[in-house]
Amino acid sequence: MNGELLKISDLKMYFRVRDVSSWLGAHRSLKAVDGVSFGIGRGRTFGLVGESGCGKTTVGRTALRLYRPTDGSIIFDGADIAGLSDKEFFPYRRKMQMIFQDPFTSLDPRQTVGDIIGTPLTVHHLVSNRSERAERVKELINMVGLRSDHIGRYPHEFSGGQRQRIGIARALATMPEFIVCDEPVSALDVSIQAQIINLLEEFQEKFGITYLFISHDLSVVRHISHRVGVMYLGRLVEAGEVNELYENMLHPYTKSLMSAVPAADPEAAKTRRRIILEGDVPSPLDPPSGCPFRTRCREASAVCAEQTPPLVDVRSGHMAACHKLSIKG
Ligand SMILES: Nc1ncnc2c1ncn2[C@@H]1O[C@H](COP(=O)(O)OP(=O)(O)OP(=O)(O)O)[C@@H](O)[C@H]1O
Ligand SMILES: [Mg+2]
Repeated sequence: MNGELLKISDLKMYFRVRDVSSWLGAHRSLKAVDGVSFGIGRGRTFGLVGESGCGKTTVGRTALRLYRPTDGSIIFDGADIAGLSDKEFFPYRRKMQMIFQDPFTSLDPRQTVGDIIGTPLTVHHLVSNRSERAERVKELINMVGLRSDHIGRYPHEFSGGQRQRIGIARALATMPEFIVCDEPVSALDVSIQAQIINLLEEFQEKFGITYLFISHDLSVVRHISHRVGVMYLGRLVEAGEVNELYENMLHPYTKSLMSAVPAADPEAAKTRRRIILEGDVPSPLDPPSGCPFRTRCREASAVCAEQTPPLVDVRSGHMAACHKLSIKG
């Protein structure tokens, strides 16, 4: 449907965790993701932002079926992959990859670069012999800007930026259609960040790859995304095309989150007011009734404690979940 590669509907991912306050060692349900819906067009980037612990990584991992969702559907290329067994999911694994935040821990220190990049080629039967594999590894390593003589080395022999290039080559090895980039530049120096972002953009252009780009860095997300979603306590509170969302923020949470980013334009900075978010994010073990943001929202009223506002289309594709916007008057 209209070129969407991935369509997530009412996705829920609840974890069973031990209740530390119970002596009987009872378990409780932690609602890490609680009814999230969004789609990503083919060859486009959906940026996901929000404070630490709001459920961004869980959305990404669940979309890749690294977790079995509690509820909801994940339509990938027309098929619902949410309920597939591991065996049924295997052919999709090649098409869906992940790039991790920390290039220092996401690469096996005992494997050479050649093995790190070559293993997915073998696992997915993408090469038929050793020389074909070596050739393809060489091609991939060159594609991400490293040299062929790097292939025999181990991860500790590389800088952070170089390791992230290795992580990208590993993700690209299977020629995926979709990649979840989970904070892929957060651990890198600013100058290196731009190189990695450029590389990701180059591969999107070349191969038409679709990205889910997770980051707490709002300016990086603005730069790379076509559409952006803002999460709060396991829910999407706002989503829209990137410029529309950044220029006409609707949700009180988005406004306070964005107000913390320094404005690039000094004129804009003069008129902009920083909105301080009071209090901590409530625990997903014990979320507030009604709107999840109401306990920190200056504009909350009685209805916000009673009903959870649905994510509705406020202005042609720009969606928000806030009673203030959906109640007329
Ligand atoms: N495997 C798990 N088991 C139990 N709880 C989990 C698990 N993974 C995540 N959580 C909890 O789910 C919530 C969302 O976590 P998640 O890692 O998705 O957040 P995040 O938005 O990616 O945060 P950050 O910006 O810090 O990476 C948190 O409360 C976290 O403690
Ligand atoms: Mg995370």
